[in-house]
Amino acid sequence: ASGADLFEQEAAPFSLQAIAEGIVQCRRCPIGCNGTRAVMGEGPQTADLMIVGEQPGDTEERENRPFIGPAGQLLDRALGEAGVDRTAAYVTNAVKHFKFAPRGKRRLHQAPTAGEIDMCRWWLDNERALVKPKVVLALGASSARGLLGRTPAIGRERGRALYLPDGTRVWLTAHPSYLLRLDGESREREQGRFAEDLAGLAQLLA
Ligand code: URA
Repeated sequence: ASGADLFEQEAAPFSLQAIAEGIVQCRRCPIGCNGTRAVMGEGPQTADLMIVGEQPGDTEERENRPFIGPAGQLLDRALGEAGVDRTAAYVTNAVKHFKFAPRGKRRLHQAPTAGEIDMCRWWLDNERALVKPKVVLALGASSARGLLGRTPAIGRERGRALYLPDGTRVWLTAHPSYLLRLDGESREREQGRFAEDLAGLAQLLA
């Protein structure tokens, strides 16, 4: 079944609170059934900017807030340097539960499949319909798939005008966790491109 089929009988949630309650109960995909708690987006419902990540990480699941672990700290710093105020943005994820593989006491991040992202898309679409941002910042390919319904090539499509069917602008860049996995010259280069993309975002919002 595609994501939309699984929600066929559902009425669209009428509030962010209804989505927060709905995702906690959601068992439509294997990640939703793994016993972790769903992490809701946060930020003002009136935000012009919506920031979309992939899925909550270990820290986010424990603290029940999006983007507060190492990737979130990198993101906050880079947004700040670009002059974009994170607290004015609505921050959420394409997938609401944390997918991981247990390794002793640790939980190692696992990427959601395209099918899992597509199933969670109904929640993301409804969240976006309630926030009505002017611009959506998509962090990485999973985020972009959740928004666009296809997996784009970041290298080719970053820094370009992408639009959702309702006209909302999507601005695509790398995921901060990707930057954290690099080192040396490639880390510097990719961080530079990330900073350029966020500077472009700041212009869109100006
Ligand atoms: N990575 C994400 O994509 N989202 C988070 O909330 C945290 C890390």
